[in-house]
Amino acid sequence: MFKLPELPYGKTGLAPFLNEEQMSFHYDKHHKAYIDNLNKFLETDPSLKGKSLEEIVLSSTGGVFNNSAQAWNHTFFWFNMAPTGKGAQPTGPLADAIKRDFGSIDELKAKFVDGGMKTFGSGWIWLCTDAAGKLSLVSTSNAAVPFTNNGPTPLMVADVWEHAYYVDYRNARQKYLETFWSHVNWNFVSENYTTKKVRDLTKAMV
Ligand SMILES: [Fe+2]
Repeated sequence: MFKLPELPYGKTGLAPFLNEEQMSFHYDKHHKAYIDNLNKFLETDPSLKGKSLEEIVLSSTGGVFNNSAQAWNHTFFWFNMAPTGKGAQPTGPLADAIKRDFGSIDELKAKFVDGGMKTFGSGWIWLCTDAAGKLSLVSTSNAAVPFTNNGPTPLMVADVWEHAYYVDYRNARQKYLETFWSHVNWNFVSENYTTKKVRDLTKAMV
């Protein structure tokens, strides 16, 4: 059985970027529902027993995929934000790769926000790396993750489902995405770039 992971900053730690009511709906209602639904599948499908969350995401389809991927995506999303992110910048090899592949951090931000704006309907905008360290932006729809079918490894993500921002931002998705940028947990993103492996989130959810 999987559990809702603890938020590293509580439900008020990201305010005023995301206020308590927005966080409560997103975390307590939406994210919890995906985990509850996944646990119902676990109760009735013995083939899922003993698998990590990542293994379930990679091997499932239909409702099991939708709920396991959304359980994973949201945990990754919570962990890639920080209250003290404001003003923080990427450093080291990640900063070098951003400069090489996007020109500058500002150009990456502009393309990330644009990619989130162009994600039609519900989905996610991701910064990813391939095994050689080349960066790319990937937009996925609904529950989809970049790393299925030998796709790239996620480093960072913004949730662009309306439920992620509608309480605080109404339809102003661009403002939400631009403010998200000031709360990126660059330590988390850098760790993902160092390992170039899909983040093990199972340990935070069992
Ligand atoms: Fe969400």
